Amino acid sequence: MTAKKRVAILISGRGSNMGALIEAARAADYPAEIVGVFSNKADAAGLAVAQAAGIPTAVRSHKDYPDRESFDAEIGRILTGWRTDIVCLAGFMRIFSHGFATAWTGRMLNIHPSLLPLFKGLKPQQQALDAGATESGCTVHWVIPDLDDGPTILQRRVPVLPGDTAETLAARILVEEHKAYPDALAMVAGGEVSL
Ligand code: GRF
Repeated sequence: MTAKKRVAILISGRGSNMGALIEAARAADYPAEIVGVFSNKADAAGLAVAQAAGIPTAVRSHKDYPDRESFDAEIGRILTGWRTDIVCLAGFMRIFSHGFATAWTGRMLNIHPSLLPLFKGLKPQQQALDAGATESGCTVHWVIPDLDDGPTILQRRVPVLPGDTAETLAARILVEEHKAYPDALAMVAGGEVSL
């Protein structure tokens, strides 16, 4: 097998998708290894999960930087330090500067809990319910400068059931996220898909 791609994961919170990627990458034949986890929140629960898995972590608060560009430049230095090939955003709640997003275009993925282009932005599960959708799901997509939704890599679908709340729908989608993200990263790291 060719060398595994070096993947950094960016989180802001719980980190369950991060955990799914770490778990998948344990397999000997998985084409990527997780080399670092970055959080912009010191209290992100996912940090402890990464540390327990023996993965290096880094935390920086954007509040300590004068502007978006300088914060993103620091993230870039950290990613370079980890010799990162691919960045996976997993619940990372920051918008990137144009320069950072451009530098990582074709090497940066995100997961969103809706069938993009439907229900971009915040609270997509509630948006799906409000729209009367009978189906929703998740999308793993390329991150492109100045866009919420770069080209789709992979989607998984779930039904919206009678009586669903945003919470029950989110939980059903999350199960699929934890399959979709490892599958999409394997496709990218293995060279099956590119932007
Ligand atoms: C997920 O629903 C993901 O799709 C969205 O934010 C949530 C993060 O959850 N971008 P977790 O931190 O991976 O548990």
